[in-house]
Amino acid sequence: MSRIPVILDTDPGIDDAAAIAAALFAPQLDVRLLTTVAGNVGIEKTTRNALQLLHFWNRDIPVARGAASPLVRAPGDAASVHGESGMEGYAFVEHQRQPLALPAFEAIYQQLQASDEPLTLVAIGPLTNIALLLIQYPDCVAKIKRLVIMGGSAGRGNYTPNAEFNIAIDPEAAAKVFASGLEIVMCGLDVTNHALLDPLYLAQLPEINRTGKMLHALFSHYRSGSMSRGLKMHDLCAIAWLVKPELFTLQPCFVAVETHGEYTAGTTVVDIENRLKRPANVQVALQLDVAGFQAWVAQVIALAP
Ligand code: BDR
Ligand code: CA
Repeated sequence: MSRIPVILDTDPGIDDAAAIAAALFAPQLDVRLLTTVAGNVGIEKTTRNALQLLHFWNRDIPVARGAASPLVRAPGDAASVHGESGMEGYAFVEHQRQPLALPAFEAIYQQLQASDEPLTLVAIGPLTNIALLLIQYPDCVAKIKRLVIMGGSAGRGNYTPNAEFNIAIDPEAAAKVFASGLEIVMCGLDVTNHALLDPLYLAQLPEINRTGKMLHALFSHYRSGSMSRGLKMHDLCAIAWLVKPELFTLQPCFVAVETHGEYTAGTTVVDIENRLKRPANVQVALQLDVAGFQAWVAQVIALAP
């Protein structure tokens, strides 16, 4: 089986940690680089968290530190969802690992240049690093097979009434990325709000393996959903789409990002009925086979140590 080569851009983040686990242990994927971005918490913390996870699994994938703040706006965060450290609840051991000496967008570009096949980018945080890559190296589009994101919504938001967190934190970056001509798959709240891990599975997690134990400890501090009603695995959806696209129903749509609205900045305007008569630029995930998703998560977590 030839594995899909992937670069994963992330702001760990508790659901990011679950997504990173799935990306590392799904046999279909070959993660070549992790890049970090400020989002759920600041860049020092998201970078430290990414390195801690790789150390936990004893994996030697390079990590590049990314943007400390959005393109033009002041940073925001989601510490209320993930805790002050961004990955509250588990005592990771100390280690000597360091990120690469070059910024995320440069590291991504180097990987793209070095690869003899186009690479898949997966972005599960704000899109600042991807926008910087496109601004610095517009020629990179030809080297990117596609960009799969967790972000946006065709309906309501989870950060402001209409905007999803990853897009709302850096709307200007998202607007740049959505208008870039890249092939984009958007796993937004339309599917991720339904991507629940149920209480029964959550209760079993610590017995499965040490990854299950660690994730259970983090999940106990995660505030998107609840341990008793189910937890929303937003970021895991982007990985699930890569490995099991048949679980998702996609619709090609024109999608624009609102950057000026007084109340609506960061809203993804998804033209489902094609009212604007503009060509589709995004494959938007609108439905998820929830039982299939849960079965896949259980399968892949069981493959981890
Ligand atoms: C997104 O926001 C973050 O808090 C999560 O990690 C996920 O990427 C969900 O809106
Ligand atoms: Ca995230």
